[in-house]
Amino acid sequence: MEDQQVRVLDKTFALSVSESQITEAIAKIAQQMNEELYDKNPLFIVLLNGAFMFASDLLKKLNFPSQVSFVKYASYEGTDSTGEVRELMGLSENVEGRTVVIIEDIVDTGLTMASFLSALKGLQPKDIRIVALFLKPEKLQVDLQVDYVAFSIPNDFIVGYGLDYNGYGRNLPAVYSLMG
Ligand code: IMP
Ligand code: MG
Repeated sequence: MEDQQVRVLDKTFALSVSESQITEAIAKIAQQMNEELYDKNPLFIVLLNGAFMFASDLLKKLNFPSQVSFVKYASYEGTDSTGEVRELMGLSENVEGRTVVIIEDIVDTGLTMASFLSALKGLQPKDIRIVALFLKPEKLQVDLQVDYVAFSIPNDFIVGYGLDYNGYGRNLPAVYSLMG
């Protein structure tokens, strides 16, 4: 059993999504992908850093041929979006004519995803799909279709399972939300 509360830097977080709930949700998404993507030879693009743990667990459950690559974008400082998205590491693969599946930890304002999407569209993939472990629908500022979502959550700031608070908390096996 995971801890009910954790302390990360100066803040206290309460258990929000347990490890077993995450595992179960990922199994569902994997099953859906195994049905829908098995003949598409997709290229998965993982948005670092936050999506590393989700991507690892999800990809292990897929049973069809695929490739994986990584890009790095940053928009958050502390517990808030800066509204400005910076590319820290770009894409080296040729995606022209490919089915691309973007793996993200959380879609919050959607600005990171929108920014990456517009860059990606310029490279002329055949099809782009988005999978996110978390979606905060009330904070979404852009018109985005997230094809696979594990959890829709309220506007709370969360850490764990890849998500961080100022770089800490990513290694927690469950997800915790900011208290008070
Ligand atoms: P967006 O551009 O506002 O959609 O933010 C997306 C990025 O901000 C995500 O990829 C996360 O890295 C980070 N982020 C958004 N919400 C949270 C949160 O509640 N906890 C930790 N990181 C978050
Ligand atoms: Mg992220």
